[in-house]
Amino acid sequence: MEDGPVNLREFQELAKRNLPKMYYDYFSGGAEDQFTLRENVEAFQRIMLRPRILVDVSKIDMSTTLLGYNMSSPILVAPTGSQQLAHPQGELATARAAAACNTIMVLSFASNYSLEDVASTCSAVRFYQLYVRSGFDAFCLCFHCFITCSFEQFLQVFKRRDVSAALLQRAERNGYKAIVVTVDTPRLGRREADIKNKMIMPRNSNLEGLISVDVNPTGGSKLEAFASETLDPSLSWKDIEWLKSITKLPIMVKGIITAEDARKAVDAGVSGIVVSNHGARQLDYTPPTISVLDEVVKAVSGAVPVLLDGGVRRGTDVFKALALGAKAVMIGRPVVYGLAVKGEHGVRSVIKMLQNELELTMALAGCPTLRDITRNHVMINYERPR
Ligand code: FNR
Repeated sequence: MEDGPVNLREFQELAKRNLPKMYYDYFSGGAEDQFTLRENVEAFQRIMLRPRILVDVSKIDMSTTLLGYNMSSPILVAPTGSQQLAHPQGELATARAAAACNTIMVLSFASNYSLEDVASTCSAVRFYQLYVRSGFDAFCLCFHCFITCSFEQFLQVFKRRDVSAALLQRAERNGYKAIVVTVDTPRLGRREADIKNKMIMPRNSNLEGLISVDVNPTGGSKLEAFASETLDPSLSWKDIEWLKSITKLPIMVKGIITAEDARKAVDAGVSGIVVSNHGARQLDYTPPTISVLDEVVKAVSGAVPVLLDGGVRRGTDVFKALALGAKAVMIGRPVVYGLAVKGEHGVRSVIKMLQNELELTMALAGCPTLRDITRNHVMINYERPR
């Protein structure tokens, strides 16, 4: 791709040209005023680097492990839904590209290809992202419904609990190595572009036969209709306990941005935390993720690995996140843009581009291995002189 994009921003511009407006808006947009969307990227630009000189950087080693699995670099593929809107091969292409780059893909609950299809196209390490649908609470609710409500309501709630358990078992059977539970989505954030465009939700293979979704709502986007059918606003910490009781797979929680919740997650026995604001698609005016990484890392104090996503667009961003204590980062939109530009090859280019940038950053900052990157390599809250 010599004449192709030279950075992730150019991938985004090309994706914008390639995609129908409705789909580009869906991928690129954030919630409401999109303040957090901009800040996720810009907050990285307020962190400066403090390189060390005269260090032997003739060999750079970016390799790392997560939950015991090897990766060529600390860059994972975040779960993003509906990838067929970007390319007909959707999640299949992304999975192959992630495998070729020796990294881990987190398959979205809202994928177009089923978790079985993705498993059969790629034997590399994969994680599965779940939106939990009622666990322990549902059981209580079921019992409550049983005595107070109609038989239909009872069945509805009971079925909901079954959906999570069924998906989890399918993930286990198909060799997914961890479950990433997204916890910042009790309801769908208000994405105004999708509302205006009357965004249409494509097929979700994983849920076929498990739920029935009305995709013809009277107002809002069809995405909202899908979300209100699949998301569970009663989700609580008890559901994490319930999930742990029905699987042996490690459970990570994605969507934590405060020290308080990070401590609760560790107490609940999770195996990892992803500092994430859902790519600014949920609650607007939450802080940019890089600005809260420090507080979460301190609260967790090494008990479990902490990952970060949101706004990572440069190798220097990855370096900054690692310096502030992240074990690895995940990228969402850049992967989708790569997919929209050139399918599997585009996703590979995006991941490789970021890996190459990180490698160069490590060399120029005097850090031959990831262990050499420390808090002293960054200066936070840099104010640009006026
Ligand atoms: C997402 N994200 C997301 N997260 C999740 O847990 N399940 C999902 O199905 C989706 N779907 C999704 C679709 C699209 C189009 C986007 C852009 C994002 C959030 C995603 O995992 C991640 O947190 C952010 O994308 C990270 O921010 P960047 O890298 O996109 O800035």
